Parts: sequence; C-alpha cells; structure tokens
Amino acid sequence: MMKHVLVTGGAGFIGSNFVRYLLRVEPDVQIINLDALTYAGSLENLQGLPHERHVFVHGNITDRTLVTELFEKYQIDTVVHFAAESHVDRSILGPAPFIETNIVGTFTLLDVAREKWAGRQDVRFHHVSTDEVYGTLAPDAPPFSETTPYDPRSPYSASKASSDHLVRAYWHTYGLPVSLTNCSNNYGPYQFPEKLIPLMILNALQGRPLPVYGDGQQIRDWLYVEDHCEGIYRVLRSGQEGETYNIGGGNQPTNLEIVQRICALLDELAPAGAPHDRLITFVQDRPGHDRRYAMDTRKMQTELGWQPHESLESGLRRTVQWYLEHLDWVAAVTRKSDFKDWLTANYDQRERKQQ
Ligand code: NAD
Ligand code: DAU
Repeated sequence: MMKHVLVTGGAGFIGSNFVRYLLRVEPDVQIINLDALTYAGSLENLQGLPHERHVFVHGNITDRTLVTELFEKYQIDTVVHFAAESHVDRSILGPAPFIETNIVGTFTLLDVAREKWAGRQDVRFHHVSTDEVYGTLAPDAPPFSETTPYDPRSPYSASKASSDHLVRAYWHTYGLPVSLTNCSNNYGPYQFPEKLIPLMILNALQGRPLPVYGDGQQIRDWLYVEDHCEGIYRVLRSGQEGETYNIGGGNQPTNLEIVQRICALLDELAPAGAPHDRLITFVQDRPGHDRRYAMDTRKMQTELGWQPHESLESGLRRTVQWYLEHLDWVAAVTRKSDFKDWLTANYDQRERKQQ
C-alpha cells in the first residue's frame, strides 16, 4: 500500500527530487510534503507540481500535534523521511539544530507512527540516511557494507547514526514496519550551494576562489540524485521490512579531482578567457575530516536490481548545465537564506595553505 505518502524535508535537495520522481512513477499517489523551510528548503524547489496530488505543509517534524493531525487527516500509510540538518560544516559550527531535528524530530515521527499504525503491517516508515554513519576508511580498506559497525565522527553523522538506531529500535521493539537506506554523496539539480559541487560551480562562475579543504585528497563516492530517488523507491516497493540497504555511485574520485572536472566542464560550457582551475585555493581543513567513504551496493543490486544510470562524467555534465541554466534559482534560494553570512562564518577564518 502506498497511497498517502508523508514526505518530510520534501522542499530540500533530495526530497524535492524525490517528490518529482514519485509523482512521475506513481500516478495515483498523493504526497503530503512536510517541511520547515529552513535555509536549505525552498518552495522554489517545488514549482509547477500538481496541487491535487502534492500538498505542501509548512511545519516542523518535532511538532507532535501537527504530525499527528497529518497522519489522521490524510490517512498516511507511508513515510519517507528526508528532513534533516544535512551540512557537516554547519554541524561543526553549531550542532544544536542537528540534535533537535535529526534525533528528536526522527523520534517524534516514529512515535506518532507507532501510535497511529498500531498493529498494521500494510504501512512503511522509510528512513533516509547516510554513509557517514560508518566513519572513515583507509585507502585500501574494503567499502562499507550494511553490517559495518557504526563509527560516526562529526555532530552531523552522530545525529544521523542516533536516528538510524532509533528507527531500528522501533522495528525490534514495537514491530513498526521500517526500512533504511544509507547513501553516499548526492549531487544534481536543486542542491543548495553550500555543498562542494554547486559551491565550486558558482564560485568559479563568479571568479571567486575555489576553497579545497586540506590537501584535497579526501575521497567521496558520488551519486546522481535521481539514481538515489530510484533506489529509495525500489526499497519502498520491494525492500524487506527491518532491512538496511546501502546506495552509492561506485566511484572514488578525490575532492581535488571533482573540482578539476568542474573547472574543465566550465572551460567548455562557460569559457572565461582563462582556465577556471587557476581559482583553486587550498584552505584549512575541516576538523575531524573523514578521509574516505566507499559503498558496497551489492545488496541493492542483487535483491532489488538497482544500479545507477548516470556515470560521474555524465552526471557532472548534466549538473553543471543545470546550474548554468538556473542562475535565477540560485539567486532566489541564496537571497532568502543566510547564505552570505554562512560564507563569511565558514570561509573567512580559514587560512590559505600552500600545496
Ligand atoms: P537538505 O539540507 O537539502 O534538505 C533538508 C530539508 O529538510 C530542507 O527542506 C529543510 O527545510 C527540511 N528540514 C530541516 N529541518 C526540518 C524540521 N525540523 N522539520 C521539517 N523540515 C525540516 O538535505 P538533503 O541533502 O536533501 O538531504 C536529505 C536527507 O538525505 C537527509 O536526511 C540527509 O541526511 C540524507 N542524505 C543526504 C545526502 C547528500 O549527499 N545530500 C547523502 C545521503 C543521505
Ligand atoms: O556522504 C554523504 C553525505 O554527503 C551526506 O550525508 C551529507 O548530508 C552531505 O552534505 C555530504 O557530506 P560531505 O561533507 O561529504 O559533503 P560536502 O559537499 O560538504 O563536502 C564534500 C567534500 O568536499 C568533503 O570532503 C569536504 C570537501 N569540501 C567541501 C566544501 C563545502 C571542500 O574541500 N571545500 C568546501 O568548500
């Protein structure tokens, strides 16, 4: 049963992509989109959606009364929980909202679901989580699997790990039908420009420095956002209750390589008269910076037949093109948020480093 779906955080980057995806692949589904519209969420991400199938509710996942009302009013049978504070650097400068939203908010949703769904098996609480809960990998270590012990190292990843534990506790203790996905770094349309890829595209277009943390040799696994949405959908449709599925793009570039690729794409698509990589600037590292993430996605492939459609090359090209064509979106989402203050807080104090 997937008729009335509560999507939390559906005005953010992945949530808004998922809302579009689900409306496309499930013509009979109604989505209730609950989002607090923090700096990271915007109605600009939801333009043009059909009102009869997509109801936007401005509110907080920690508001138990509101969440209860939504379960009752819309007869919610599925929750897809994206809402979170999601930026590691912000969690370092100010962890409190991460505890409140990621832990208390997840608890609130779980507890309302337990109350409203008591004894039901035709429902699902799907929790969207991250590879960062597993910690950091040595260069030659095997990728994270679903049974890798948790070892979170930032306030963000610790808060996500806590929420994952709560979700599993509700499954084991109360039999709440849950599923979890832990995914690697997403990129693509509608990503708020604080994150590496959009930040580098936009700084490069403005001729600003491209701030690479530390030596730039940290490794992430990058996944185009629509491939993540499809993975979540497959878990909702065919994944087993109580199970966790790792999702990732199967690539291992360094951060410096990602920035260089973006520069090369911009040299081609938006030439500036001089190579964009002249703007690369090494700056003071992120405290506690995880060195490497990599995901073993064999469970998704063998059980659910999922694999990414976009390669890193094709996905990055699509992403750079999307930002070039949506500079009005960038202006709108950064204007209404604290973005300038954030850039000052996170970057102005960072010393430059020679490599
Ligand atoms: P995002 O920061 O772009 O969006 C988060 C959304 O949640 C925003 O719309 C915001 O307004 C909303 N929100 C925040 N606090 C809220 C609250 N208390 N109540 C209601 N809404 C609230 O995040 P994202 O990058 O789209 O990530 C979505 C989810 O996916 C998160 O749970 C994140 O941990 C997870 N995830 C992200 C990535 C990634 O690379 N971005 C990778 C793996 C997992
Ligand atoms: O791995 C999944 C996670 O990916 C998600 O759970 C998080 O929500 C998401 O924000 C992302 O976390 P990261 O910290 O990996 O993403 P970010 O884009 O902030 O940084 C990617 C890498 O680039 C990381 O190693 C830090 C580095 N970086 C980032 C910024 C913003 C820089 O070198 N310079 C920068 O200015």
